[in-house]
Amino acid sequence: MPEQTDKTQEHFSDPIAEKVGFDQTESRVEVHGHPIHAMSVSFPIALSFCLLGADVLYWWTADAFWARAALWAAGTGFLFGMLAGFAGTAELLLVKGIRARAAAWTHAIFAVTLLAVLGANWGHRLYGYEEAVLPYGILLSGLGGVMVAFTGWHGGKLVFDYRLGTSKGN
Ligand code: HEM
Repeated sequence: MPEQTDKTQEHFSDPIAEKVGFDQTESRVEVHGHPIHAMSVSFPIALSFCLLGADVLYWWTADAFWARAALWAAGTGFLFGMLAGFAGTAELLLVKGIRARAAAWTHAIFAVTLLAVLGANWGHRLYGYEEAVLPYGILLSGLGGVMVAFTGWHGGKLVFDYRLGTSKGN
């Protein structure tokens, strides 16, 4: 019955989808169509896991090399994370279809929490990188590992499920 179908469709319509520019989701912070955010997130993701790995190895071996490696992983992870965060924030604010979707804001909240944890972890180590590892350094690295997993997985969802930041092709 056509009348019933219309009512069902009306019930499930999303008011946000009516917004001007809802379908405008292509990246604007890009180099020849390659989004800078997507290109730069690999660094903080990898460095967050290296940081946790270096802390575990320091705990296991007591070799100062691993504590120094962890200091560098924390600092570079934080700085590259900030760079990726600036590109992501520009994308969020400039692209109407990205700005309109709640999922993009959820990702931003995860990401800012991760950056705060990485920054605190780096700052904590600047006053003695060996003493900093146990227990607070490794605890912060564990929390950072959880946060980076959520942030990265959710960022992937934005691209692969919602197709945000992708090109619509020619
Ligand atoms: C701080 C603010 C951030 C905002 C507002 C933000 C926003 C976004 C947006 C809008 C996308 C969709 C793709 C695009 O438009 O480029 C995205 C993708 C993604 N984000 Fe973020 N992001 C932030 C930080 C981060 C950080 C710090 C990480 C990881 C450490 C991260 C990991 C990812 C990943 C893995 C993707 C999927 C990339 C792909 O598979 O191509 N984001 N982010």
